[in-house]
Formats: sequence, C-alpha cells, structure tokens
Amino acid sequence: MSEHVRTTTADAAAVPHAPLRAGEALLRVEGLVKHFPLTQGIVFKKTIGQVRAVDGVNFTLNAGETLGLVGESGCGKSTVSKLLMSLERPTAGSVFYKGTDITNLKGRELRRLRRNIQIIFQDPYSSLNPRMTVGDIVSEPWDIHPDVVAPKDRGRRTRELLERVGLNPDFVNRYPHQFSGGQRQRIGIARALALQPEIIICDEPVSALDVSVQAQVVNLLAELQQDFGLAYIFIAHDLSVVRHISNRVAVMYLGSIVEIGSEDDIYEKTAHPYTQALLSAVPVLDPAVRAHKKRIMLTGDVPSPANPPSGCRFRTRCWKAQDVCAEKAPELVDRGQGHPVACHFAEAVQVVEALDVVDEPLPATEPGLSAPGSRRIGSAPADRSEA
Ligand SMILES: Nc1ncnc2c1ncn2[C@@H]1O[C@H](COP(=O)(O)OP(=O)(O)OP(=O)(O)O)[C@@H](O)[C@H]1O
Ligand code: SF4
Ligand SMILES: [Mg+2]
Repeated sequence: MSEHVRTTTADAAAVPHAPLRAGEALLRVEGLVKHFPLTQGIVFKKTIGQVRAVDGVNFTLNAGETLGLVGESGCGKSTVSKLLMSLERPTAGSVFYKGTDITNLKGRELRRLRRNIQIIFQDPYSSLNPRMTVGDIVSEPWDIHPDVVAPKDRGRRTRELLERVGLNPDFVNRYPHQFSGGQRQRIGIARALALQPEIIICDEPVSALDVSVQAQVVNLLAELQQDFGLAYIFIAHDLSVVRHISNRVAVMYLGSIVEIGSEDDIYEKTAHPYTQALLSAVPVLDPAVRAHKKRIMLTGDVPSPANPPSGCRFRTRCWKAQDVCAEKAPELVDRGQGHPVACHFAEAVQVVEALDVVDEPLPATEPGLSAPGSRRIGSAPADRSEA
C-alpha cells in the first residue's frame, strides 16, 4: 500500500498543468493487471482461460522525464499504454495522475484527463484517417476540447504545429497518403501536441520507420520535450532505441517488469539475465568493442501469456535457473545492485563496454520536411522541397 494519499475525486485530472504536490510523481502505476479472457466457440462462447497480458506492473513517471519501456513482442507494452489511456479497463491495480486515482474515470472526467495524456501509435499508416486532410487531423482534438484554441485561431495554430514538427505548413490540405512514413508520424506528433498535454505515450513510434528516419523522429521528440516540458513513456522492443531519449528504462518480460533503473543502471550495471541477453544482441559499431563482445543466445520461445511458467517467468529460457526459480516468483526489489531487479540471483555486470550504438551519422534525409533544430543523434538536415 502506498504512503501517498488516495483521493477519489478527479480534480487533478480535470485541471491541465495543475501543480504537483511535493514528492508526488506525475503518473504512478500500482499493481496493474490486465487479463483477457481466452474464449472457445463461435456462437456459444466459453471462457477456457485467461491471457495474462499485464500481471502486476508498478512504476512512476516524473514530470519532464522519459521512461523507456522495452521488451519482446507480446510482453504487454501496448496493453500497459492502453491501460494508462483508459482505452482498456484493468483487471486489478490503479493508475494515479498527480496523486489522483484515474483508474475508473468515465465520461466528462475521462475526456478532461485525455487532454493531459496523449498517445502516438506505432503504425503511422493506420493511425491517421485517410479521408481527412492533415489540417483536419491535427485540429480534430479541438472539436472535443474547444476551450484549448478559439475557432478563429485554429487555422494559424494548425500551421504552427505542422511547422513545429518539421512539416511544411503549406501541406495542410493534403491527405495522409501523400506523405512518407516519417512524415505521417510527424502528423501524429502534431495531433498529440494540439491539446498541450503533459504526458505523451509513444508506443513504438519509430519501429515501422526506416533506420535513417528513426533518428529524425527521436530527435524531434527530444526537442519537443525540452520546449514543452513533456514527460514521455517511450515504448520499444530494442534497448538501443530507447537509450538516447530515456532517463530511466523498465524492461518487461511476459507481462511484468523484470528490471528498472537509470540509463547507467540498465546499460552499465545490467543485472537481470533477460536484460543482459537483450543488451548483448544490440549491434555495436566500434570494431574493437565488437571483437570482445559476447552474445548471449536465448534458447526457446517466449512462453504463452495464457500459460506462463511457475515462479520466475523467465526460467524456461534462463541459463542461471535453479530449483527455487520454479517455486518462487522473484520480487522486483534491489538486492544490492543499486536498482530493482526481479531475479533471485541478480548480479550487476557490464555486458558491453562503451556501448555506442546510435551516435553515428545516419544517412538521413526525408523529402518534404522543414529543417529541424538541433540534432542529438547524427542526421543530416532535411529538405522540405518535396512531398
Ligand atoms: N484485446 C485482446 N484480447 C486478447 N488478447 C490480447 C488483447 N490485446 C492484447 N492481447 C494479448 O496480450 C499480450 C500482450 O499484447 P501487447 O499488444 O500488449 O504486446 P506488446 O508488447 O505491445 O507487443 P508488440 O511489441 O508486438 O506490439 C499478447 O499475447 C496479445 O496477444
Ligand atoms: S530468478 Fe532464476 S530463472 Fe529467473 S532470471 Fe533469475 S536466475 Fe533466471
Ligand atoms: Mg505493442
């Protein structure tokens, strides 16, 4: 049970940019669980089990920070993001926004909360309505929240948002199919910014993009965070992608967080065998480092979340597993490594020395973009001349 005071009103959720109480996280997740029923039959559906998509997730997100959420496909990352957005209702657990329990908000209170927490989806092709112009897509949130921008200012504000995300504002009347994948993701970012949120959940925002464009979009998100004081939950299945934008990283396996800590904790003092395996798979550019690098090959498939292993869920693929691992689920606690790790035999090791995997110039130009500002990850300035 948390030491924080639980309130049942949605006051904090209703007031955008309301001040945070001292010591309170912007977002706090406690014991979040989502089980989907596993059904059989077409006409007479019978529940034959549960898919344990999310099974006891705890974390906090502080104002202005980025929490990376990393794990293999199917480990529950998107389900966590949907629970945070109240797009799914949890089986158990709570989500607090500025200390207020927002888990069961409905109707008007939920709409007001959504102003403060926005999401960018993985697939920039399916997340934009193909029949709407870019201008209509970006300004649509103001139909639901008309107090954010007065109708007379919407045209100007839409153009400003397009410009801010690096798109040519003259493209305001074009349709999504007239843009590249990276440009469409920028449209999604502009739409997310329209309501001036405090938190943006980025659900694999660059996974569907070319490597050259990924860096541009990550850099843009980093710039916007600085400018608007945004907090991000940045979801990815690759530890190298989240490193450059995250202050802290949480590693998920089969519905639970197995390790969480600062960038230094996760990349330099990696303590969970699963994180060590993920990190050992990250490509290293420096040939000298690459020569010394050991690759940890995981054997076996990820078990089904409908039938997870007893005890530690990673035990069927873990080279360190012992009898106790099948009997007792390890808690996510600090066992002397300096950060919480869910492993009975956690030991901090440096998997890869001087890991420098993305800070290399990328051959990056995407036609039809306006030039972004400062660039954190190497990428050439983009050219806005083409669509
Ligand atoms: N509506 C649903 N009904 C039943 N099962 C679901 C539902 N949504 C998700 N799942 C299951 O829950 C598990 C977690 O899915 P989720 O989409 O959260 O994973 P993910 O980590 O986001 O994966 P990816 O990296 O592929 O996006 C998967 O086994 C998935 O099949
Ligand atoms: S608890 Fe056991 S099986 Fe699980 S990660 Fe640690 S050593 Fe491996
Ligand atoms: Mg997903």
